Amino acid sequence: MDIKNQFPIFKNNPDLIYFDNASTTQKPQCVIDAMVNFYSSCNANVHRGAYKIAEQATAQFENSRQIIAKFLNANENEIIFTKGTTESINLIAYSLESKLKPGDEIIISEMEHHSNIIPWQMLQKNNISIKYAPINNQGEIDIKQLESLITTNTKLISVIHMSNVLGSINSLDQIINLAKQNNILTLIDAAQSISHEKINVQELNCDFLVFSGHKIMGPTGVGVLYMKAKHADSMEPFLRGGQMIKEVTKNNTTWNDFPWKFEAGTPNIAQVIGLSKSIEYINELGLDNIKIYEQDLLNYLLLNLKNIHDIDILAHHNSSGPIVSFNIPGCHPYDIAKLLDGKNICIRAGHHCAQILMESLKINYTNRISLFIYNSKKEIDYFIEHLLKVITILK
Ligand SMILES: Cc1ncc(COP(=O)(O)O)c(C=O)c1O
Repeated sequence: MDIKNQFPIFKNNPDLIYFDNASTTQKPQCVIDAMVNFYSSCNANVHRGAYKIAEQATAQFENSRQIIAKFLNANENEIIFTKGTTESINLIAYSLESKLKPGDEIIISEMEHHSNIIPWQMLQKNNISIKYAPINNQGEIDIKQLESLITTNTKLISVIHMSNVLGSINSLDQIINLAKQNNILTLIDAAQSISHEKINVQELNCDFLVFSGHKIMGPTGVGVLYMKAKHADSMEPFLRGGQMIKEVTKNNTTWNDFPWKFEAGTPNIAQVIGLSKSIEYINELGLDNIKIYEQDLLNYLLLNLKNIHDIDILAHHNSSGPIVSFNIPGCHPYDIAKLLDGKNICIRAGHHCAQILMESLKINYTNRISLFIYNSKKEIDYFIEHLLKVITILK
């Protein structure tokens, strides 16, 4: 897509080739402008002022909730603003703690990001156990094996939609169906898929879905938790303070309505407005067009990578998203990334916050390329040219 000129970072760094989009995405001018405009024209706190700019700030903030709800096909009150995917998952783990009892079980998978592992490990102190569904050789959660882990004690299945290491996309329909048949709650980590796949929470019928603004061209410091409305009353608020209350007396407090009950304190107003702008930008480009463009780029990248002698490309197949991990025997991923940085090419090296996945794949780290809509085949050519040079230096 010919949109690179809409991203100031590339104007300020004309030679930059940015292939680390699974880590964070670059921001288009319209997103930056939306935040600057808020601060320069109607900066005020939301939900409290009786004056015009406060009303404007509140209207922009709540309008952003509507835009995001529509994007996910959710109801407006089912969108809770958080700091990011990590905070959204922590919120659910904290809120579920009082509802779970010793002996209850949570199923996650071996391909989860640490942020969908550690919050559940926190519950092990209450004798709640975690079961890990293994992955198959296509790099997807093995549904049969996941099914075999379900017992009458299973209370939640919490899984990643698109792997941040492999790009593989899990079959959410099957997983959520299994959960529903067994009366189990579902949480979907859509941190990676949100910018590449159409997500319709009503069709998915999941209970919770989470993502971070910064992975979809929005700012850092804002994330979303979709929570099905029917859970609103029974879930405990995570953070407590202003905004999330209806009435406070010396000994008692009543909670605000849903979703504000879960949004304590002054929210990240400018970031929420920036995020809604990035969603509008994605809508203008069209997720269908984005997918076609990215698939073409991805095929081109894979074709070129496969020509490299000895390369080990981790489980990847036709329906995977635009994330590719690989290893080259004799070359440390960090050395490859560092040497490519000398040519202004940003790629990732490491375990990608997925050490359980690394363990199951019997590796310690990979190099990872993650593509996005402002990348091009020309950039891939340049990357391959220099990757080959780097391999010659390191071998
Ligand atoms: C799949 C997945 N889940 C969760 C996260 C955590 O996101 P954040 O650090 O924005 O909270 C990431 C970030 O890389 C991710 O890729």
